[in-house]
Amino acid sequence: MINIAIDGPAGAGKSTVARAIAKDYGYIYVDTGALYRALAYKAINNGIDVKDEINVTRMLGSTKLDITYTEKGQRIILDGEDISDSIRTAQISMGASDISALPFVREWLLDMQKDIARKNDCIMDGRDIGTTILPDAEIKIFLTASVEERANRRYKELVAKGESITLEAVIEDVKTRDYNDSHRAVSPLKKADDAIEVDTTNLDFGQTVNTIKEIIDTHIGGEK
Ligand code: DC
Repeated sequence: MINIAIDGPAGAGKSTVARAIAKDYGYIYVDTGALYRALAYKAINNGIDVKDEINVTRMLGSTKLDITYTEKGQRIILDGEDISDSIRTAQISMGASDISALPFVREWLLDMQKDIARKNDCIMDGRDIGTTILPDAEIKIFLTASVEERANRRYKELVAKGESITLEAVIEDVKTRDYNDSHRAVSPLKKADDAIEVDTTNLDFGQTVNTIKEIIDTHIGGEK
């Protein structure tokens, strides 16, 4: 199986780029952030503090999380319900960042992620894919962009979805999430030693996709 890891901070463009590449190469696209988002969604909806390890751990004891791949792409099934379209809000983003810092949460999601990669050619995005989940991935990309550029992209997405939020608030959110994601004790956001860094601050979507495809083709001989 071919496994491609894409890590990087929030808003660097990982998901759109990974989705496009997966389609072109016939791989599945695995969005691991959605797993943390699903758990944050459940906690928030049940009045559980996403930083409270004891209560979150208790919650996981009665949680069933499944990930499936359909023609609509990845779907996240939480306790039997497809919640994939409800986990993209600013509130869930922040909750996911907080809940992902809990070591037990990361451990709880570990096998599920490894298992998908074992069984499928895939391109998997997240924060710790190249360092922890798939240390032996054939290709590792670390996608970055400046805070301002990433916040601007996220702001446009949220506004397009009808959320009322200011650019300043999104910049603050991005900075807070960057800090949280790269300072947590377990599997922090970090470029793997053997990852190739791609800075997308001045690249548009097409240029980013082409840059990554060149990297993939050089490493795996352009097999499609
Ligand atoms: O990629 P995203 O914005 O959907 O991720 C939401 C949060 O989940 C992010 O702030 C950090 C966390 N996360 C993580 O800790 N490890 C991953 N592999 C993916 C996401």
